[in-house]
Amino acid sequence: MDRVIVFDTTLRDGEQAPGFSMNTMEKLEMARQLARLQVDVIEAGFPISSDEDFEATRQVARQVGTLDNAPSICGLSRVGLADIDRCWEAVKYARKPRIHTFVATSDIHLKYKLRKSRAEVLKAAVDAVRHARAYCEDVEFSPEDASRSDFDYMCDVLSATIEAGARTINIPDTVGYAIPREWGERIARIHEKVEGLDRVVLSVHCHNDLGQAVANSLTAIMHGARQVECTINGIGERAGNASLEEIVMALRTRKDFFGVDTRVRTEEIFKASRLLSHITGVHVQPNKAIVGENAFAHEAGIHQDGVLKEKLTYEIMRPEDIGRPSNKLVLGKHSGRAALASRLKELGFSLAGSELDRAFKAFKDLADRKKEVYDEDLMAIVTDEATQGEALYELDYLHVISGTGVVPSATVRLKKEGQTYQDSGVGDGPVDAVLAAIDAITGLKGRLQDYSLRSATSGKDAIGEVAMKIDFDGTVVSGKGASTDVIEASARAYLSALNRIARSSSQRMKEVGP
Ligand code: KIV
Ligand code: ZN
Repeated sequence: MDRVIVFDTTLRDGEQAPGFSMNTMEKLEMARQLARLQVDVIEAGFPISSDEDFEATRQVARQVGTLDNAPSICGLSRVGLADIDRCWEAVKYARKPRIHTFVATSDIHLKYKLRKSRAEVLKAAVDAVRHARAYCEDVEFSPEDASRSDFDYMCDVLSATIEAGARTINIPDTVGYAIPREWGERIARIHEKVEGLDRVVLSVHCHNDLGQAVANSLTAIMHGARQVECTINGIGERAGNASLEEIVMALRTRKDFFGVDTRVRTEEIFKASRLLSHITGVHVQPNKAIVGENAFAHEAGIHQDGVLKEKLTYEIMRPEDIGRPSNKLVLGKHSGRAALASRLKELGFSLAGSELDRAFKAFKDLADRKKEVYDEDLMAIVTDEATQGEALYELDYLHVISGTGVVPSATVRLKKEGQTYQDSGVGDGPVDAVLAAIDAITGLKGRLQDYSLRSATSGKDAIGEVAMKIDFDGTVVSGKGASTDVIEASARAYLSALNRIARSSSQRMKEVGP
């Protein structure tokens, strides 16, 4: 079957949106999950934009780009030759490195931003592609603001960059201006008009300003595009990019209509979405397609009845297809005992008899106050929501030695306001040692009051979620952290608690620590 290349730009376009920035470790953790998801290309960063972005891209290329069956690792660069050199320095470690170079082709951008003529921009694009091709075969070119570019001029630039050696031609709707039918026609016309297009992959990169990013991407596929650029949870500049999970599941669920497929292991989608939310602290809205809390929820009694009898009645996808452990019923005050028992069972609580009676009463009390009762509500008796805020301290590096017959020790490096601080600690276990090392850096001493660890999903490779309660000099704060490495998750949870206390008493922190 005809295959669509999935190019994930969560770590570049997604990460550059305000509130979504990730440090190198977070990018690496996300990149590993993207590799498990089996995306074809990871755009890991824009190396010239900052030293940190360079380093993060380089680490992704080194650590994820060298795995078996690794995706291509791509870096973004403008058409300046120094940009391309820097980009290559970062991605060159990957088995399959890609340089993605771009320049705007719309008259608006040429006049106000670049202050260059059409001829100058065309030459710069060709020179850039040639320069990049001297480094690697896999070169992608994008005419930025394509949806508002003069069509004939843009096609001239595309023909020239193909001639110069570009292997992928990506058409961005940079400002999310396109409307599906018009966009589909534009893609079809590019197919007809641009010389050499049959030798390259045609790609699209759609923004969501008018809420059309996924529709535009799918329409482009119907008109010959064979690469889509997208992000987990649809994060990205302004209203975001096209959402990976929505495109992939639309292609899969409606294979009968689109007749194309992807390599994506859809069972990893939910984990990828949750990991990104955890890392960035930004959760998707409950009604978000595919990964929102309610995406597989059925509130109406008649729907619940149907789903309990046969899921096909109201479900076009199975939760398992995206790695969601089970179907989710939203319970409300009209839900009965059977629906509650069924949901609790799926959540891991097999209650019957008087236990179920008590749970049912508590549920009814809650349902009187709230219209819908979600999983989180049902589990609220045991969980305390910890909010992650702006990080003052960030984990930069962690090394732990632990095992039978050795004294556990840890070395930790933290970043604070652009500076890094490193220290070490020992303890009666690896978590204790990590916390001691963090205390040595900050000068604060937190007393661990409570610690819990749970896996966010099923499977041995699941992400571990740690929740802690820490007493800092009489003030008790909670913290949460997640990672596929539970020791790192513990460090993150401790730091999120520390950041909360640090924000409320930053003056005091200055006196006692870095
Ligand atoms: O939106 C855009 O135009 C981009 C390009 C760099 C592809 O992100
Ligand atoms: Zn973009």
